[in-house]
Amino acid sequence: MSLLRRIDKGGGNTGGDSGSAGRGPEPGGGAAGGETEESKLAAMRQRRQALAEQQRPGTPGKGNNYLDLKTRVQNKLVSELDHQSMDVSRKNEVRAHIEELFNAILADESIVISRAERLSLFESIVAEILGFGPLEILLGDDTITEIMVNGPKNIFIEQKGNITRANVAFENDEHVLRIIDRIVAPLGRRIDESSPLVDARLPDGSRVNAVIRPISLVGPTITIRKFSKKPLTIDDLIRFGSMTKEIADFLRACIIARLNTIVAGGTGSGKTTLLNVLSGFIPNDERIITVENAAELQLRQEHVVTLETRPSNLEGKGQITIQDLVVNCLRMRPDRIVVGECRGGEALDMLQAMNTGHDGSLTTCHSNTPRDTISRLEVMCLMAGMDLPVRAIREQIASAVDLICQQNRLRDGSRKIEKITEVQGMEGEIITMSDIFEFEQTGIEGGKIIGRIRPTGLRPKFIERIEAAGIHLPPSVFGIGRSY
Ligand SMILES: Nc1ncnc2c1ncn2[C@@H]1O[C@H](COP(=O)(O)OP(=O)(O)O)[C@@H](O)[C@H]1O
Ligand SMILES: [Mg+2]
Repeated sequence: MSLLRRIDKGGGNTGGDSGSAGRGPEPGGGAAGGETEESKLAAMRQRRQALAEQQRPGTPGKGNNYLDLKTRVQNKLVSELDHQSMDVSRKNEVRAHIEELFNAILADESIVISRAERLSLFESIVAEILGFGPLEILLGDDTITEIMVNGPKNIFIEQKGNITRANVAFENDEHVLRIIDRIVAPLGRRIDESSPLVDARLPDGSRVNAVIRPISLVGPTITIRKFSKKPLTIDDLIRFGSMTKEIADFLRACIIARLNTIVAGGTGSGKTTLLNVLSGFIPNDERIITVENAAELQLRQEHVVTLETRPSNLEGKGQITIQDLVVNCLRMRPDRIVVGECRGGEALDMLQAMNTGHDGSLTTCHSNTPRDTISRLEVMCLMAGMDLPVRAIREQIASAVDLICQQNRLRDGSRKIEKITEVQGMEGEIITMSDIFEFEQTGIEGGKIIGRIRPTGLRPKFIERIEAAGIHLPPSVFGIGRSY
């Protein structure tokens, strides 16, 4: 069934945007009768766009007229720009050139608008030509940590842990697609119906994922995890109440004593951030090799090698996986291996490394409790396809992993360490663990969760390793000799 008929059948009011599957009508496609179908489609798109514009939330006074004006001025400007001699890397020069043309066009067309409107019109046109369109303003705002585009008109942001609707919108599906293209094309990647998922990075290091129709049913979606220019420090985490000074001292001791550590938590719970902070405790004279899907860690030590995976190229060749990199980094004489996240078969290689002299390694795992972390690790080791019996895998886990640091994003948007758990060994078929610290919620005040992380009163067995590293932690750290 043709696209048009499908839409007509749906009554033309399905709430989505233009309804174009991906890129709209194919150039030169739909030979006989194509023109009428295309023009009908275009008219319908325009109607919908107008409707969506009227319904667009949070942009008072910026209705159709604004959009028309922007499109008109922009089209004129683009047609007058000398693309051949334009060197987009020299942003300031190009910007000045665009400003000249912009002023000339407004004067030519006798367009009278206020100074503020003029400025906002100019900025949005520059963002279209040189930047990432409506996303530009969100990308420039350092208080925004995440940007989520669910189709052209529904854009959400995360700020201070809270998710709200952003005050910007794309014109239509095609507009979002243009911006996705602008993000992925310089990296030699593409997105279209045959490969509708793509991972990419912005020039500033922010991670981007895009999904388009037919996989995404709400239109093209973009998720951006913004790269923080100044990574959070241990002092920030203490100040935010994610941990206490005592916990920080304890974790520092664990890292110096070369405990194999897993940071566990859900999406956006702050795993990578905590991994970065913990890796910061590694002494300066040790050789650190980091392995990541998209390099996010920002270590300040000097002796660091950063490795990043690579997807396959357009011919499906050349892929380098986390597992490849873990195996390779064993040949690079590492003192410490830091793997951004274990998601699959690489977990087995990582555990083997931990068990064969590469102690003091660190990684993260997507899981909700320390026990869950163990089950996930088991499943990931099975994914390595080595046909190992479950018991053998459990033994590997029990002897490799020393510490699980469970971080979570609570309902009020705050991130907290919920549990610090020691992995002790095996009893029969079961891996034994002991919680050393846990978060205790005492109440809620003004929507904020109040509580404290407190020792359980159990001394970890690995305390001897910490002592052997020359660090003495007073028993009171573990709640021994104190009343709670
Ligand atoms: N303890 C924390 N308190 C407040 N914000 C945090 C904390 N840890 C991380 N964040 C912020 O949360 C977002 C997600 O953090 P990240 O470490 O990338 O999570 P994950 O790796 O679990 O997906 C980032 O914007 C980061 O700056
Ligand atoms: Mg992460």
